[in-house]
Amino acid sequence: MMTTIRDVAKLAGVSVATVSRVLNESGYVSKSSQEKVNQAVKKLDYYPNEVARSLFQKKSNFIGLLLPDITNPFFPAVAKGVEDYVNRKGYSLLLGNIENNPEKEKDYLQIFSQNNVAGVITAVQGENQKFNKIPMVVLDRVDDERKYSVHSDDYLGGQLAAKAIAQRNAKKVVIMVGPTEVNGANIRLAGNEDQLKKENIEYELFQTDSYQTDYAEETAHIFFEKFSDVDSVIASNDVYAIALMKEAIKRGIKVPEDFQIIGYDDMPFSRMVYPGLSTIAQPAYEIGVKGAQLLFDILEKKKISESHIQLAVELVIRESLRKKDENER
Ligand code: RIB
Repeated sequence: MMTTIRDVAKLAGVSVATVSRVLNESGYVSKSSQEKVNQAVKKLDYYPNEVARSLFQKKSNFIGLLLPDITNPFFPAVAKGVEDYVNRKGYSLLLGNIENNPEKEKDYLQIFSQNNVAGVITAVQGENQKFNKIPMVVLDRVDDERKYSVHSDDYLGGQLAAKAIAQRNAKKVVIMVGPTEVNGANIRLAGNEDQLKKENIEYELFQTDSYQTDYAEETAHIFFEKFSDVDSVIASNDVYAIALMKEAIKRGIKVPEDFQIIGYDDMPFSRMVYPGLSTIAQPAYEIGVKGAQLLFDILEKKKISESHIQLAVELVIRESLRKKDENER
């Protein structure tokens, strides 16, 4: 039988209202009554009903987190950063994996509201843009209209990827462009194109409709049906880059001698595959931590010094790129 607040009140010899005030840290309670209640809670191993508590306080100890695709290792790294921070604040996560489904996103926003979450953190560019009932911070897939956001420098990332390819004897270059509805994909493309034009390198574009892991292998097949003599690819993210690299090797194409490729994200598997995937490293974990920190600064009504935080990216060279010169290790 589950212990109730009445059992605690009875053992402590106080009213239910006094127990509630102690548990919700609201209103005056004498030191002795606090002591009695805390001892009774401990003896009975009582845990307050979270829904009841949140109804009383109007806000629960939950933070809602929306992600586009938990099968892409980039997002669990972001989620871990968010979770580590909110747990340190005594909160827990309610996670929604949206998978590019607007109905699912609306359902989760409704669930977050019904559970009185204290705030929402979202890496989904979608319906939540109109959702202003609860404090919100946007991560990664950020557009200019959002009030509070944390992401990394997509333009610099695009430039670095293009420069790395250009320095390695690139003759037939294709840029694999991420889905146009994701703002970061368009900014990365701008960085790619500006850099390749600066280097006087011609290129073609291959537009993808999705970043979702589910479509990576099918996209790789379509890519090779369209481009048979490519020697350099700037891929839209690591998952798609690895699918392309696998398809090239299956077709007997030598990587990187005949086909070099650079990805984007630096997810853990990118250093485990062989050839290792060269990529642009995004600080996924730190994006999560900074996003959660910004949300709690808002909830705690602190002065917000920076409402749009942009973090640095860095180039990671591995075996999927040709050597720049004989001195490069
Ligand atoms: O790999 C998933 C992509 O979607 C990443 O590049 C990340 O920036 C997200 O927007």
